[in-house]
Amino acid sequence: MRILVTGGAGYIGSVVTEFLLAGAHDVVVVDDLSTGHRGAIGKGVTFREGTLLDEHFLLPALDGIDAVCHFAAFSQVAESVADPLAYYRNNIGGAVSLLAAMRKTGVKFFLFSSSAAVYGEPDGTPIGEDAALRPLNAYGNTKLAVERLLADCTAAWGLRALSLRYFNAAGAGESHGEDHRPETHLIPLVLDVALARRDELVVYGKDYPTRDGTCVRDYIHVKDLASAHLLGLEKLIDGYGGVLNLGNGRGFSVLEVIRAAEKVTGLEIPYRFGERRPGDPAVLVASSDKAEKDLGWKRFYPGIEEILRDAYAWKQARPDGYPA
Ligand code: UFG
Repeated sequence: MRILVTGGAGYIGSVVTEFLLAGAHDVVVVDDLSTGHRGAIGKGVTFREGTLLDEHFLLPALDGIDAVCHFAAFSQVAESVADPLAYYRNNIGGAVSLLAAMRKTGVKFFLFSSSAAVYGEPDGTPIGEDAALRPLNAYGNTKLAVERLLADCTAAWGLRALSLRYFNAAGAGESHGEDHRPETHLIPLVLDVALARRDELVVYGKDYPTRDGTCVRDYIHVKDLASAHLLGLEKLIDGYGGVLNLGNGRGFSVLEVIRAAEKVTGLEIPYRFGERRPGDPAVLVASSDKAEKDLGWKRFYPGIEEILRDAYAWKQARPDGYPA
């Protein structure tokens, strides 16, 4: 198939592109490089630099495309709280514009990069797809709004859409990994501290109702996320759609991640406790039973240590991330 990957210069989009190419698909990457990296565009990809908000740019990019994987979005929770308009404009506006162009060009299949952020503070874990949807921040609101837009377009004009709600993506692909600027995610920050690129980690909160007082998250290897996309695309073409959680089904606290990273790196990771970070739920752990059953998805890298090993190998290979 010929797949348009929006946001293919970003973390998850670049690893999924790796998998699509390995699966003998043709890939066209569309990215405005506002947060993605030119260095993340893989060999063998057709790259078109531009914004989804520009129809004149988008329409020719959709020429000959069989399906769209839509990753392009802003994704920093705290930033979304500070500047909701930027998030609504980019994340919802980008999706509206992309879907309008798809409708015009007759491209029907859409795989959407959604997030566990649509759940907010869950009533219990593991979280199933039928849990209450109560996002705690503008980022989560934009992801939920696009999910709803997809359902409306499916009903109105025959779009076929599958939304994948990622829990905490981590690890690295064969030649692509995490490079956010600024970096806010736990695992790359922990590894920066291990490599003495930062002095210490600040653990946000120590009085959560969890086994050690720190937040628990479901870390899922980005390669396992990528394989779910390939399965999802096949199912979409067969008529499948809706929403699916993608997680590991196991939670690790911040302190457990630090300890596991010390074991994997053999290095000490100094940390201190700080205030809670606004908008952080205590526990987010997925049930991915539906993805396992409906897609036949299996996780090949479920251990936190293998996730950390791959993230560490990426950090060591590219301590400064992609070249400017
Ligand atoms: N944390 C710290 N110190 C840090 C950074 C993070 O203690 O310096 C803690 C956070 O408070 C949180 C955990 O580590 O408890 C994980 O934080 P991340 O920032 O790595 O990830 P989040 O859980 O906040 O969010 C990520 C994505 C979101 C997505 C969510 C879904 O960034 O886009 O996973 O689970 F919505």
